[in-house]
Amino acid sequence: MDKKLDTIQPIFWRENQLQLLDQRALPQQEDWLNYHDANEVAAAITDMVVRGAPAIGVTAAYGVVLAARKAWQQSAETWQQAIVEPINALASSRPTAVNLFWAIERMTALYQTLPANESPEAILLAEAKNIHQEDIAANHTMGHLGSALIDTDSTVLTHCNAGALATGGFGTALGVIRQGFADGNIKHVYADETRPWLQGSRLTAWELQKDNIPVTIQAEGAAASLMATGELDWIIVGADRITANGDVANKVGTYMLAILAKYHGVKMMVVAPTSTIDWQLEDGKDIPIEQRSAEEVTTIQGQQIAPEGVAASNPAFDVTPANLVDAIVTEAGVILSPSLESMKQIKPEQ
Ligand code: MRU
Repeated sequence: MDKKLDTIQPIFWRENQLQLLDQRALPQQEDWLNYHDANEVAAAITDMVVRGAPAIGVTAAYGVVLAARKAWQQSAETWQQAIVEPINALASSRPTAVNLFWAIERMTALYQTLPANESPEAILLAEAKNIHQEDIAANHTMGHLGSALIDTDSTVLTHCNAGALATGGFGTALGVIRQGFADGNIKHVYADETRPWLQGSRLTAWELQKDNIPVTIQAEGAAASLMATGELDWIIVGADRITANGDVANKVGTYMLAILAKYHGVKMMVVAPTSTIDWQLEDGKDIPIEQRSAEEVTTIQGQQIAPEGVAASNPAFDVTPANLVDAIVTEAGVILSPSLESMKQIKPEQ
């Protein structure tokens, strides 16, 4: 068993309910919210109580358990029909992270095999817990695989939050950073603040500070001049969806970093479990990119900062072409120079 390198877990199933750490309030407040209803879980995903692709998938799996409980309580005969609507609500909560659909499909495939006249809750809860634990285990495996790619005493930059908060625990990009720091391969981390939700300055900085990993936050506009100093060795990010050819959808701004990295000779690592790979899509142009509300850009914590009525564009993600990525790290292995051909090394048999 690995020495414990992280202190945070954002999702718990406790006292027969789902408990989520409210990520909108961090780091000022650590509030836990309780959920008994799948439609409320769907709203929590949309509203960013919980965010990050693997964390959304784990949460949705527990949401299916709550949907099944309610459907069974309503009718032992027709629960398999009643569960469909709340599951659709979960699937409509956010469009880009494929882990959401992956987890819902896995839970759906299971409940469809269950007898109509037996309570489905215990079996579905066991499966949701499996999804949760498998995610944490994958993050630890990726932590070792990613750390092994990094030379001693490197400086890295990360974008958004791909940490314990964005997963079942430990993190994808921050899993590599945690392991890399423990191995002596990473000595310093820069974190982009990541407008408009500030996942970098609020969440990544909070996680790394808690684990005593040296971190400096910066506006994302500072990335180019940081790279020009020659100080930076790797950019390490997570992903919301990776297509069959290795194109990567991640937090908006990642594509900009990848272009800058290529120009400055900085290496680009994407860390994501295989549940983030969408083998159905050949390339990134078909990935649905979530557009969020203009108010997220024109206001900060409810306070208007832009002129009233100004138009604001708010795509939550962008797509980095595979040819700008040096390594995709998954729990099934590392793909160097990702392409349709090289990605086949980790493609499951049909
Ligand atoms: O809008 P968010 O905060 O859900 O976006 C999160 C990201 O873009 C993460 O980098 C990605 O989900 C990977 S999390 C391990």
